[in-house]
Amino acid sequence: MPVDSASLSTSEHAAGAGISSDALVQVRGLRTRIGGKIIFDGLDLEVPRGSVTAIMGPSGTGKTTLLRHLTGQLRPDAGSVRVDGREVTTLSRHALFELRERIGFLFQNSALLTDFSVFENVAFPLRQHTRLPEELIRNVVLTKLQAVGLRGAANLMPSELSGGMARRVALARAIVFDPMLILYDEPFVGLDPIALNQVLRLIATLNRTLGITSILVAHELAAVRRVAHHVYLIADGRLVAQGAPDQLAREDSPWTRQFFGGEADGPVPFQYPAPDYAADLGFAGAAR
Ligand SMILES: Nc1ncnc2c1ncn2[C@@H]1O[C@H](COP(=O)(O)OP(=O)(O)O)[C@@H](O)[C@H]1O
Ligand SMILES: [Mg+2]
Repeated sequence: MPVDSASLSTSEHAAGAGISSDALVQVRGLRTRIGGKIIFDGLDLEVPRGSVTAIMGPSGTGKTTLLRHLTGQLRPDAGSVRVDGREVTTLSRHALFELRERIGFLFQNSALLTDFSVFENVAFPLRQHTRLPEELIRNVVLTKLQAVGLRGAANLMPSELSGGMARRVALARAIVFDPMLILYDEPFVGLDPIALNQVLRLIATLNRTLGITSILVAHELAAVRRVAHHVYLIADGRLVAQGAPDQLAREDSPWTRQFFGGEADGPVPFQYPAPDYAADLGFAGAAR
């Protein structure tokens, strides 16, 4: 059953968002190993069209890696990654480029070109990938800047922007081709509460008014609860919990307790895996 984006608009918590065969993104049995380390060990998840789906999990668990699988920047060892009905893992180079034009990215560092104005940063993908006349480029750029509330900042340089403004310019650039899907990789990191709320509201608005499916990698539980319809919690290469944010927050598993309760102790160890401490300090065998 397709997710009705209009109905989502009436509720910030459209619980579950009807996971179904009409998923825009479908990951099945994903197995990935990087440098001998197993990142995914049979991961399954779906992202319904028109939804905001959050991916949460400890640092280094593979959230960014998962996003790279969706755009075909990385091929898995096994499993299937379908985006809009296409099997990304076997797409040709050309087809991958076409797919990527329909996917917007927002990274935590905003990744603006420092020598270009705000206007030129947003215009950049259009100049790279199209031969649109200048007048049309101007219309598109100003429309996208207006959407993020920064049309008035078109002539500023990136060095003149606050962190929150830079993130919004990057978002304007991410939607310049009217993507079907936006991937947000930790978009709130380093933002003050006001800027965070502005970016959060934009994510919700783009999803609601343009029906853009959104995948949100974030650690900020309060923000995720306000915008996401569904949350996948990933750890140890697999899915450890999923559900509507409020439902997950109530669930009493060690994973959700640690993650949603922010406890320092739990399944995620405080210590990064390391050799024996005593041995590392040169006291090998001294304890016995
Ligand atoms: N290009 C790479 N080369 C080597 N290791 C990598 C590379 N990309 C990611 N990794 C490893 O894969 C794991 C998952 O990384 P990542 O997807 O960035 O985690 P997350 O985004 O959840 O913090 C980490 O252990 C990281 O060290
Ligand atoms: Mg990451």
